[in-house]
Amino acid sequence: MRKFVLASLLGGMAFIPACSNITFNSKPTPPPPSQDPDQQADQLVAQMTLGEKLQLVHGALTIQNPVGPGKAEEWVPGIPRLEIPDLLYGDGPVGVYSSIGPATALPSSLASAASWDTAEAYKYGLVIGTELRAYGMNVWLGGNVNLTSGREPRDGRTFETAGEDPLLAGSIKAQHLLAVQSQDLIGTLKHYALNDGETGRFQANAIIGDRAARESDLLAFEIALKESNAQSVMCSYNLVNSVYACQHGDLLNGVLKTGWEFPGFVASDAFATHSSVDSALAGLDQEQIGGYYFGGVWGPSLESAIGSGQMPVSRLDNMVHRIVRAMIAAGPFSHPVAIGTIDAAGDAAIAREILEQGAVLLKNGSSLLPLDAANTSSIAIIGGHADVGVISGGGSAQVSPIGGASLTLPPECPPTATGISGLACLNSSEVYDPSSPLAAVRARAPNASVQFADGADLNAAAALARTSTVAIVFVTQWTSEGMDLPGLNLSGNQDALVSAVSAANPHTIVVIESGGAVLMPWLAGADAVLEAWYPGQQGAQAIARILFGDVNPSGKLPITFPGSVADLPRPVIPQPADPTSTSPFDVDYTIEGLNVGYKWFDEQNIQPLFPFGFGLSYTTFSISNPVLTPNAAGASPGFQLSFTVKNTGAVAGAEVAQVYLGFPPGIGEPPRRLVAWKKVHLDPGAQEQDTITVSASDFSHPLSYWDSSSGSWQMGTGVYTVYLGNSSRNLSVAGTFTPGH
Ligand code: BGC
Repeated sequence: MRKFVLASLLGGMAFIPACSNITFNSKPTPPPPSQDPDQQADQLVAQMTLGEKLQLVHGALTIQNPVGPGKAEEWVPGIPRLEIPDLLYGDGPVGVYSSIGPATALPSSLASAASWDTAEAYKYGLVIGTELRAYGMNVWLGGNVNLTSGREPRDGRTFETAGEDPLLAGSIKAQHLLAVQSQDLIGTLKHYALNDGETGRFQANAIIGDRAARESDLLAFEIALKESNAQSVMCSYNLVNSVYACQHGDLLNGVLKTGWEFPGFVASDAFATHSSVDSALAGLDQEQIGGYYFGGVWGPSLESAIGSGQMPVSRLDNMVHRIVRAMIAAGPFSHPVAIGTIDAAGDAAIAREILEQGAVLLKNGSSLLPLDAANTSSIAIIGGHADVGVISGGGSAQVSPIGGASLTLPPECPPTATGISGLACLNSSEVYDPSSPLAAVRARAPNASVQFADGADLNAAAALARTSTVAIVFVTQWTSEGMDLPGLNLSGNQDALVSAVSAANPHTIVVIESGGAVLMPWLAGADAVLEAWYPGQQGAQAIARILFGDVNPSGKLPITFPGSVADLPRPVIPQPADPTSTSPFDVDYTIEGLNVGYKWFDEQNIQPLFPFGFGLSYTTFSISNPVLTPNAAGASPGFQLSFTVKNTGAVAGAEVAQVYLGFPPGIGEPPRRLVAWKKVHLDPGAQEQDTITVSASDFSHPLSYWDSSSGSWQMGTGVYTVYLGNSSRNLSVAGTFTPGH
């Protein structure tokens, strides 16, 4: 029964409906000033019957619902007599989930993070929020802030996240959530916690210390939650230190609700609930999907537990209070869902802008880029199905692009994508968004001869490259929920293709469409490399505008690109010893502990292929004159750092000044932690003085480490070193200070 339900559910994930007519959506009117949401929620809970309360703490036992042209993935019927609306849940992290209906396919969430631009991130969230609202949804399930890329860069869901650093990821996701919530949806942050791998995802047991968790994955949640005031948290499938995340009292009641004073509700990932009373008492407020435990299908119901005194009714009241409070605070209560229309053209423009700000130029060896259309007589476009579109990621983040997919292929699921864990992958398709690089390059270089070779035949591809002025190779790396990549090399013949093309033409540009990091054994031979993530349905247009210099790239990597999987904390992905077993198996995160991503590479003194924070431009910048002013003794510890950013080149562009902090030795902190950044846009020759303020009182805890013995954030005693630069590996010491002196 259970397996059947899961299979049929997850099996729907790759559904790509045909295109429908999409028009404009109007913004909901702002909420009227209302009373305190807690008081209002209390009044409503006081009027509910036991049955009404129980109805709100789990999904409906039938998944279909009548709303809109699409359907919600999860559904909790409301209570009309109290004007409590239905809760209608929609994914996804990179645009509205495919089963709901056609929507704007945004670039990866990772591309949003790579912009290092919170205003751009807000626009990203606005596209998702307005489109979900137009489909009649009032809960967004897509706030994936897991630090997958740092702990497991092969994780198939990396494209849904905002990178490996808790401050960057938390800040970017906060903007996605704020924007979604501005449209009267409840925003959900997921997957809490340490859901950093997909191999055996329902049984993986993350082993980690308290301090390491607090300073890494949990810190990303803490920052995103406190900055966005998101009202919902989704607990994850995996176990943490041998306890399922959705019945983890220390994580739910402890860290989240008591520690961070989270006032909203915790809902389980689909079928991540493992018990009724234990889960509810540990802090789970709502079971999803359905109510198989809470409703008593797979064990004693909550109702019977209350009847027998196993669970106090006050706990049920608190669960309901949190859910109703979230509806009041985030908007669904006062702004009922209404089917609207999507601003397809406006949202497409944002999709293009996101990639223009988030694509990362990794190499520009002979300054081949930007291309000059007038002086490029022939261009070879090779591989990656670049004649028809750009690739997207699978699973519950799959978007059905407006206009329809340009190509769908069977999924390349690795052997580890097995059983129920792997269904989201196995039932996916590789979907290409309708944005053709070949067409976009032809449009931008109308007088050039632009020819395509699909890359299947290396000799044919090399022959076309040899007779062209420039060759552009498009390479793809498909990833999905329910799988981890077997490695970071490109699949199939793509590495050989790049080598063959760059051997045939020294002016070879490689455009990477990937879920995350890839290895580049061909890097030395390629003249230029652009990381375009999953580009989204305006991706080709954005890529062409970057390649021809209409846009100067300014993205910086939100993840480390390792030089080899041997350099990772776990060169081999842990998996169950017996692939048919559903018993928990350990994933040892104590290896890297709090040193996630670049912190691991710094601490181990390993040179990455490309470091966190790295990205080139068509212009050059200087970051100079740092002046560090520690806060006066007696004030809250912290510092101000002033510096000058100057565009020293010939074209307008943007630089991201990054501030990292080295803690006093002996505390066990990583060599450097990102504590602040500023993206600066400058015309050629222009300069700007900027000041960054970093304070111990900030909720990102920039100057503190987690002290497990006292259960609190503590400052180190001794000398802190402040670094300034434009990547985690290109930094100068801006000064030192000793708090309290
Ligand atoms: C995924 C969640 C997603 C949910 C939707 C699960 O398989 O892990 O991220 O929100 O499906 O129901």
